[in-house]
Amino acid sequence: MNDTLNDLSKPGLINFGKVGSSALGYITVAEKLPFEIKRVYWTYYAPHEVMRGNHAHKELRQIIFALGGVINFELEGVDGSKYHYMLESPEVGLYIPKLYWRTMKFSHNAVLLCLASEEYVEDDYIREYSEFLNWRP
Ligand code: TYD
Repeated sequence: MNDTLNDLSKPGLINFGKVGSSALGYITVAEKLPFEIKRVYWTYYAPHEVMRGNHAHKELRQIIFALGGVINFELEGVDGSKYHYMLESPEVGLYIPKLYWRTMKFSHNAVLLCLASEEYVEDDYIREYSEFLNWRP
């Protein structure tokens, strides 16, 4: 795991660290990000183990946190590369570049926070897996 990522064309975990103590609690700060944040959203009350995602983005890049609970991610690049990440620490973000097909499953109490590089545009989504497999960047 890195504090920063060397290759922004690949997914990876960023440890943002934390300040505080077990006696008082913690603060994690997200700054010096690899993109300007244009949108923040959060996802919650996803039923345990239901699969979300099933899409890729043409341009959007994201850093995603599990602020609570556990979220398992499966990622696949247009080059066929595959990655599995288990997010379970609020100070660790998953960087997802553009053009990665993702599925994710939440534990019953999980809360996902996403820092996104673009505003919401439905046309940025690739929602057909066959279209993704044939995608040529
Ligand atoms: P989606 O990104 O497909 O969710 P997930 O990847 O968690 O399964 O979004 C689910 C729905 O919410 C979809 O109809 C689009 C809508 N949505 C917005 O309207 N604005 C947003 O910023 C986001 C992220 C989703």
